[in-house]
Amino acid sequence: MADVDSSTVLVTGVAGFIGSYVARALLDRGSRVIGVDNLNDYYPVSLKRARLQRLSGEKNFAFHECDIADYDALRALPGVGDAGCIIHLAAQAGVRYSLENPFAYARSNLLGHLSILELARHSKKRPHLVYASSSSVYGANTKTPFAETDPVNDPVSLYAATKRSDELLSESYARLYELKQVGLRFFTVYGAWGRPDMAYWSFTENIISGAPIRVFNNGDLKRDFTYIDDIVSGVIATATQPMKPDRPVPHRIYNIGNNQPVALMRFIEIIEQAVGREAVKKFEPMQAGDVYATYADIDAISADYGFAPTTPLEAGIPKFVEWYKEYRKSAGGAA
Ligand SMILES: NC(=O)c1ccc[n+]([C@@H]2O[C@H](COP(=O)([O-])OP(=O)(O)OC[C@H]3O[C@@H](n4cnc5c(N)ncnc54)[C@H](O)[C@@H]3O)[C@@H](O)[C@H]2O)c1
Repeated sequence: MADVDSSTVLVTGVAGFIGSYVARALLDRGSRVIGVDNLNDYYPVSLKRARLQRLSGEKNFAFHECDIADYDALRALPGVGDAGCIIHLAAQAGVRYSLENPFAYARSNLLGHLSILELARHSKKRPHLVYASSSSVYGANTKTPFAETDPVNDPVSLYAATKRSDELLSESYARLYELKQVGLRFFTVYGAWGRPDMAYWSFTENIISGAPIRVFNNGDLKRDFTYIDDIVSGVIATATQPMKPDRPVPHRIYNIGNNQPVALMRFIEIIEQAVGREAVKKFEPMQAGDVYATYADIDAISADYGFAPTTPLEAGIPKFVEWYKEYRKSAGGAA
């Protein structure tokens, strides 16, 4: 199969955690990046703007504030038709927030995903599309590690249901219009410039300030934590290398994780060591929408794209904590 034309890449969710890193990596490789984000206030917009600030000044970077669910606005953006590749990361993320704000998920994750598919379908460039799915699609699956061939019909949150729906929408567009697509099921991504709604951030924040941390399911949870640099290398590989032509339908879904689940209590211990202070732990029951364990089988993405994560939690968390302390200082203590 022909190489992907990654000279111009459309990145959605570019002000987000993963999107801002992916844009940086693409610029470093010499691509022109058209970044789109609606800068919504799910978490502080100041953090999203600070991430964008780090990309501004790059002559090959253009940012457009736009809601991807607004198809007419999206397709009218300058340069979007030039993209030979789309990396679609914009979404309403978070499992717990979906219990209170269901329509935000329908708009960004369902309508937004359809909008991207339509954009790709009607683009003369026939762009290669890489989009973000999530480990949450495995829902109530108890077989570990989670393999792409496992059934994914038991979502335990609306967020998971929208991500699984995106995979199905993509499959239909691959069959109907031969749109080349790779879906990536991310497993808990963490690192500097990360997300304040995630446990590694709130635990670090609370341990530093001496506030209690909420330990769900009385500490009996496991997560496959994946360091941002490892994720970025996998995203760039799947976005720039041709798809493996082993299926007539040009759509493949891959797990992208660390392949090493860590117990919640060990995760807390690693943060405590990095911060240099013990956490005040408030043990609580399992939360609605949460899953007991995540554990990625990464054989497929390793075989097809050479994906090989190299950062254990013991190395990645201290890097996050170091960044967090600096960021907190520069944000006047109110990170
Ligand atoms: N970080 C993780 O651990 C993780 C795990 C599984 C899946 N994912 C998926 O990876 C992708 C990136 O996640 P992230 O951690 O960078 O999240 P993020 O929230 O930091 O980034 C998403 C960005 O998309 C933007 N956005 C949301 N709705 C939009 C819309 N309608 N139009 C335009 N922009 C919109 C947000 O403003 C945000 O900047 C998401 O699709 C997420 O669901 C992330």
